[in-house]
This record gives sequence, structure tokens and C-alpha cells, in this order.
Amino acid sequence: MAQMEQSGGPRVAHRVEQARQHEARKIARRSFMRVSVFAGLSLGLGAWTASFLGFFNLRHPTGFGGVVTVAKARIPKVGDDPARISEGKFWLSNLQGAQGDVLGVGGAGGLMALYWKCPHLGCTVPWSPTFAGGQVNFPGVTGWFRCPCHGSTYSRAGVRVFGPAPRPMDTMLLTINGDGSLNVNTGKITSGAADNPLRAVVYNG
Ligand code: FES
Repeated sequence: MAQMEQSGGPRVAHRVEQARQHEARKIARRSFMRVSVFAGLSLGLGAWTASFLGFFNLRHPTGFGGVVTVAKARIPKVGDDPARISEGKFWLSNLQGAQGDVLGVGGAGGLMALYWKCPHLGCTVPWSPTFAGGQVNFPGVTGWFRCPCHGSTYSRAGVRVFGPAPRPMDTMLLTINGDGSLNVNTGKITSGAADNPLRAVVYNG
């Protein structure tokens, strides 16, 4: 009897050890499954995000919000009517000297990218080539940006001369490329101010 009790001890200890190892293996398997599922989800989410950004072209946006390249052929000649660049939501003016400087701040002329959103309440401002400056106290000067919503009127350099707009038209960062084209960064918008004509970039394209 005493002998049986002595041999039962190691057997029980062996079973306890087996149960412990079994439980440890189960826990390890569950952990592995969790890590696998999490890794799979992360990979799936990463792939989805990449395709989302790719689909909407958000990594390197072009068009409005990104850099818009304007080919040389689309750039207006000095003194011509501004060109509408729809994909960037701006007007491209090519000023002749101090043209558009209606406040006397000066300016050597050149190219300006004017955001077409009216600084008053956001209407799209068109170029009006036949609008007579006599209506806004600038007789003899024909061709103005004229907002259809409340009549704010701006010179070729986007300087406000009439209407409720609180400031001149905003400008976008413009750089000239070696081949005569230019880049307009439509994500870099500067509030319009009296110095708008001084922001023009001389162009010899
Ligand atoms: S939105 Fe242009 S003048 Fe009001």
C-alpha cells in the first residue's frame, strides 16, 4: 500500500506537466493566429490606402491643389487678355510694365497667376475684355476682372478698384521652366494685396 502511494506521486506530476505543456501550446497557437490576423489586416489596409491615394492621385496632386504646368503656347503675349487656366482655377496675366498697377505701387510687368475665386464670397471671377473702366473711375482702360455676384472689379494685376471685396485677388506661386513653360503651384496661394503688381515674374520666353 505504502509502495503504491509512493509510485502515484511521479505519475500525477507527469500528468500535470503534460497538461501544462498542452496549455502552453494552445496559448502559443492562439497568439500566432492573432498576430497573423493583425498582420493580414495591416497589409490589407496598407494596400487599400495605397490604391485609394493612387486612384485619386493624392500623392502627387496635379490640377487644382497641386502644380499645374502651363505650356509655352498657352502663355498670353505681353499686354494680351489674360488666359483662363481651368485645371488650376486661375487666370494667367502677362503685364506690360506697370499695367494693372492702379494704386501706383510700381511694377516691372511679367506673369501673374491670379486665383479666380473672388475674395468677397467666393464666386468665380471672369475676365471681361470689354468692360469699360469709366464705370469704376478709370476711364480709358478697357478690360477688367469683374465679379458677376456683387460687382467687385479688379485690374489685370488683380487689384481691387470697386465693390465689396475686402482685398485684391489672391496670387499663386509661379516659376518659369527652362523650356519656356511655367509651373503654377495652386496649393501655394498668397492673399491679394496692394503689392500684387510687384509679384509679377518677368518672362522672356
Ligand atoms: S462674391 Fe465677388 S463681389 Fe461678392
